[in-house]
Amino acid sequence: MFTVGIITASDKGFKGEREDKSGKLIKEIMTSNGYEVITWDILPDERREISKELINMSDNLKLDLILTTGGTGFSPRDWTPEATLDVINRQAPGISEAMRYYSLQITPKAMLSRGISGIRGKTLIINLPGSPKAVKENLECILPALKHGLEILK
Ligand code: MTE
Repeated sequence: MFTVGIITASDKGFKGEREDKSGKLIKEIMTSNGYEVITWDILPDERREISKELINMSDNLKLDLILTTGGTGFSPRDWTPEATLDVINRQAPGISEAMRYYSLQITPKAMLSRGISGIRGKTLIINLPGSPKAVKENLECILPALKHGLEILK
């Protein structure tokens, strides 16, 4: 069974001002698809905090997959893609290209997600946008190919 860590990047979620519906939904969807969710953090939209936790989940917890949600847009506090770029060794652009391609058929706003995907050691990191709707649609897109990618990475 592949292990998963979830990071929700949200200033409001971190302060307890907004319920983390997206993190919860990722947990439900991944669990029902046979993944083991090991840990789930809510962090403020701080590049350093996010990259530190990505390193912890990959190097210390040795998770197979990290899914982030939020912080991929154009707001001045959206830094999740940069935090991810700070820690990956190899990019996996096809995953984010596929998500945007799929999502553009649902909403033109999909082009506003700057999310990236990449590999640190043996951990795959994927940035998902922040809303529960976007989480559901993007996971729907990547789940059919994800296990194959993770098997090759092992
Ligand atoms: N992708 C899908 N599939 N469905 C959506 O509703 N919303 C978009 C986009 N991607 C959306 C989507 C919107 S409105 C934005 S602003 C960007 O993701 C970035 O979202 P984020 O800043 O919450 O990460």
